[in-house]
Amino acid sequence: MEIKLRPETPADYREAENVTREAFWNHYSPGCNEHYLLHVMRGSPAFVPELDFVAELDGRIVGHVACTRAFVEGDDGRRHEVLCLGPVSVLPEFQRRGIGGRLIECTRETARDMGFRAVLLYGDPDYYLYQGFVPAELLGIRTADNMYAMALHVCELYDGALSGVAGRFVEDAIFDIDEAAAGVFDREFPPKEKVAGVGAQKRFEEIAAARKPVG
Ligand SMILES: CC(C)(COP(=O)(O)OP(=O)(O)OC[C@H]1O[C@@H](n2cnc3c(N)ncnc32)[C@H](O)[C@@H]1OP(=O)(O)O)[C@@H](O)C(=O)NCCC(=O)NCCS
Repeated sequence: MEIKLRPETPADYREAENVTREAFWNHYSPGCNEHYLLHVMRGSPAFVPELDFVAELDGRIVGHVACTRAFVEGDDGRRHEVLCLGPVSVLPEFQRRGIGGRLIECTRETARDMGFRAVLLYGDPDYYLYQGFVPAELLGIRTADNMYAMALHVCELYDGALSGVAGRFVEDAIFDIDEAAAGVFDREFPPKEKVAGVGAQKRFEEIAAARKPVG
């Protein structure tokens, strides 16, 4: 069996949203909102259609990645455009076979060709350090509320791409999810049980809490 990566088309949207839902369900919290985030993201001016990919196996979508434009509000008083990667999802039964890594690498290569400087994201250090990201703190990049966060990672797309670009990472407003609308959207999918207290949720809480003030 051969996994193929290709650009997403509108005909894939619902299947990719379902892959996202299956991957994130109960992962960070009971249930998840990432499939709704993906749904609304595609209508946002920050969405980058050229960086919207699916991983396909025998005509079935098993993985997906999307990106939005974001920026570093630089300490030099300038706004530096970067990319925010995610959500990235692989169906649970296809995880740990390199598909997530291929989706991330495909995004980085295409983004580099498009002239983007860097990709940033919030995620698990165990995974993203393995995928070639570094802690954003190493480049002096903080959260929008000016904290160093363990979950914030960066990958420069060429040597020195962010040299001299310290500042605050600001994601698109699309990430402020309307929970009520997300709940309504989720009802369009098959029912799934929400479970609290699973190991991945506890790990996420620890990572999310690992923030420290500047200085
Ligand atoms: C994160 C995710 C996209 C990774 O996709 P994947 O195809 O499983 O990842 P890959 O096969 O490319 O890489 C797996 C390797 O990463 C490393 N790794 C470390 N932590 C990991 C984790 N929590 N999940 C998966 N891999 C992890 C391992 O070394 C693993 O290799 P191994 O299986 O030989 O030990 C997928 O697990 C997923 O959809 N998870 C749920 C949604 C999610 O958390 N998305 C990211 C949000 S920031």
